[in-house]
Amino acid sequence: MFRMLIAAALALVLTACKPAAETAAPAANVVDTRDVPDPNSYATPDTVRIQHLVLDLRADMVARTLAGSAELHLKWADEKARELVLDTRDLQIGGVQGFDGKTWKTLPYRLDAADAVLGSALRIKLPSALPRVRIRYSTVPQASGLQWLTPEMTSSKQPFMFSQSQAIHARSWVPLQDTPGVRFTYDARIRTDAGLMALMSADNDPKAVRDGDYRFSMPQKIPSYLLAIAVGDVVFKPISSRSGVWAEPGVADAAAAEFADTEKMIQVAEKLYGPYQWGRYDMLILPASFPFGGMENPRLSFITPTVIVGDKSLTSLIAHELAHSWSGNLVTNSSWKDIWLNEGFTSYVENRIVEQVYGRELADMENVISQAGLAETLKNTPPADQVLALPPLAGRDPDEALSDVAYIKGQWFLMFLEQRFGRETFDAFLRHWFTTHAFTSSHSTEFERFLTVELLEKHPGKASIGEVREWLHDPGIPSSAKPAVSTRFDAVDKAQAQWLAGDVPAGDLAGNGWGTQEWVRFLERMPPAITVAQATELDAALHFSGTPNPEIAQRWYPLTVRSGYTTARPAMEKFLTAIGRRKLIMPIYGELAKSEEGRAFAAAVFEKARPGYHPITSASVTEALKAPAPEAQQP
Ligand code: BES
Ligand code: ZN
Repeated sequence: MFRMLIAAALALVLTACKPAAETAAPAANVVDTRDVPDPNSYATPDTVRIQHLVLDLRADMVARTLAGSAELHLKWADEKARELVLDTRDLQIGGVQGFDGKTWKTLPYRLDAADAVLGSALRIKLPSALPRVRIRYSTVPQASGLQWLTPEMTSSKQPFMFSQSQAIHARSWVPLQDTPGVRFTYDARIRTDAGLMALMSADNDPKAVRDGDYRFSMPQKIPSYLLAIAVGDVVFKPISSRSGVWAEPGVADAAAAEFADTEKMIQVAEKLYGPYQWGRYDMLILPASFPFGGMENPRLSFITPTVIVGDKSLTSLIAHELAHSWSGNLVTNSSWKDIWLNEGFTSYVENRIVEQVYGRELADMENVISQAGLAETLKNTPPADQVLALPPLAGRDPDEALSDVAYIKGQWFLMFLEQRFGRETFDAFLRHWFTTHAFTSSHSTEFERFLTVELLEKHPGKASIGEVREWLHDPGIPSSAKPAVSTRFDAVDKAQAQWLAGDVPAGDLAGNGWGTQEWVRFLERMPPAITVAQATELDAALHFSGTPNPEIAQRWYPLTVRSGYTTARPAMEKFLTAIGRRKLIMPIYGELAKSEEGRAFAAAVFEKARPGYHPITSASVTEALKAPAPEAQQP
């Protein structure tokens, strides 16, 4: 009920604000960061904005808490305001103080009842528009934005903790304005066990003395979802003078070798879109429970170890997280409805880096794979969620609104523009977008205006506003889209047809010199099910069950489920318990959940795997394994 009231109130505010944002378009080159309010935050950025954050926290690896204080430096737009509203989720608030320029005084506050998606608004009463407020607090062990791993769950056999703030989980470990429309700088002091290293999305020092007391500074303004912390037994291996990997000792050498092309990637991106603006670019290799492939925390991307396969074939993930240093971290969506501005642009930039570093053939193969994935996604996506410029996500969890539409349709839109305007023009345009909007948050309306003025009107006759609007506002893929093609995949498809027809034995396929992408294509283009004899033949010749390559595993195991090839189950179970990356394991759980027997098997595996999963992953698996609702009764 309370949620509905909020939603109704927001809807009113939104309709009231919308015309202003659309009609009062400023002249070209003036950055318009105004947008409708972010419904996924209780904060009131039109009244007050956090400018700087000072964290002083102790990471207790046994109690599984971060405890201490967050000091917020505030800039008030409304000097008459007497309330500061912050986002929190499951935080234990110890007290609030305000600084009036001379002394700190205790302030009254109220913590609202929790909303399942948004958490609790922390409402602080102020005697005046104070410049600083300090909150003493502690997190809970189940904080949605943190995962605490026991020693058995890591390769170093030491405790490990890491954050995942995107989209709206920063509020579960820091009380703040948890909206990408607000940017701030930060300093932090983190204390933890001596011998463990603490790292943040800040100026990590490869030579820091491991005394359990670490200080950080992030002098560039970032949105809250890029606030990040990790504590564990990690060591540093340099790749270049400004880049390197942090990883548990047993993983560090393999990681540095796998990601040896990182400096090359930075240089390619810089040549296209301007200087890398964040100082160092390091990567932290997390334990296998990390629920994502990568997270673009500034200066320190968080990376799954599952892409370390020995042949660099999955390093487009690094290109992706690095690309966010321009698309996303420099120019951010001001609320989650416009996440395609982050992820679609990044997928485009990622593919340009891959093309430059590894060649056109790999870039083409990756595009064909992702466009096929998008086609699958669209089959199960309601039309309203197939548009790039989504309506405000009031009452929705932004994590659920995330899909291939933002990533791949978004990328495809930029590829369409590139094809119409030519690389030279389009590259200059994109660079101009990043440069003029650096360190701001923006939205689809602003991008559409910028595109119209800076590209369409300056180069008339190449693409119409109607075509652009179709990409942004209509469901599906516009007819103006040119699908990606790959000649290498033509050969894979041919070989596959021959194998399926029984003309070529599986053993011969091994001699084709295929890499990861070809095998992915081979498995994805299979008929829905093959015979047990065929599965047995493939497995004997190609050893798919137990493969160390998770992109292959992710496609092979669901095929074995559909085909009734239960021999793969022990290896499948091992995969599901060893890895917590959502994208890799959800297709398998999803396939198992389709039959009652499969669901029971999946539930048993989940029970064993769950202690090692991140809360985000556990929530997804729980949802997937829910018994289907009974069929509606026919009248
Ligand atoms: N920023 C995303 C991860 C993310 C998005 C986390 C939204 C929470 C909410 C990251 O850059 C990303 O896209 N990761 C992908 C890898 C990429 C190569 C597509 C992933 O984790 O799979
Ligand atoms: Zn991304």
